[in-house]
Amino acid sequence: MTKTPKMDKVDFTQMKDGTKEEYEFLNALEIDHTRHTADRLLKALVELDESLSGYQITRLGHSLQSATRAWNDGADIDWVVSALLHDIGDIYAPYNHDEYAATILKPFVREQCKWVVETHGDFQMVYYGHHLEGHDQNKRERHRDNPYFEDNVVFCERWDQASFDPDYDTKPIEFFTPMVREVFDRPAYDPAIIRAGERVPLTDPVIAAERASQ
Ligand SMILES: [Fe+2]
Ligand SMILES: [Fe+2]
Repeated sequence: MTKTPKMDKVDFTQMKDGTKEEYEFLNALEIDHTRHTADRLLKALVELDESLSGYQITRLGHSLQSATRAWNDGADIDWVVSALLHDIGDIYAPYNHDEYAATILKPFVREQCKWVVETHGDFQMVYYGHHLEGHDQNKRERHRDNPYFEDNVVFCERWDQASFDPDYDTKPIEFFTPMVREVFDRPAYDPAIIRAGERVPLTDPVIAAERASQ
């Protein structure tokens, strides 16, 4: 009896020539690949350590501090993971790092958090736009009618612009690893996760007090 050899790569050189078996084989590989997204993102986050010098802390330090502040404010997991990854686009997309990060988060977090990450660059400009020529300090005003406008104001004020302090008690990446895994293990684009139009407060004093006492 001859045994069919196990496929380790497809035969086709043009997609249109692929067979059902080949596409089923590739699909299985792709599913396996998506399972490791969280680990790849965590690795990319560590690479942020080498980007953008000149600040008192590295980009990784800033990301961890933003997420720590979100955690300490009693924010939910969507907010904490979004704060952690909000600048991950700095490596490959310096001119639209916010959109890059939002694209990564989009299938797995609330629409509210995705939007805030996507536009945080415009909102951050309120803190430095007036110091640099050609920068519009009021760039965020173009988003004034968006239902999540105020959420972005809070995101930037409490977590983003504030997180450049080398003396802040920042949690290590290991603290956030299970949260990143949980978020990226979710079913993609699940309406129960996306919760379109829903606004969850960034701060929850009761949860914040609970976490502070742990
Ligand atoms: Fe940013
Ligand atoms: Fe940032």
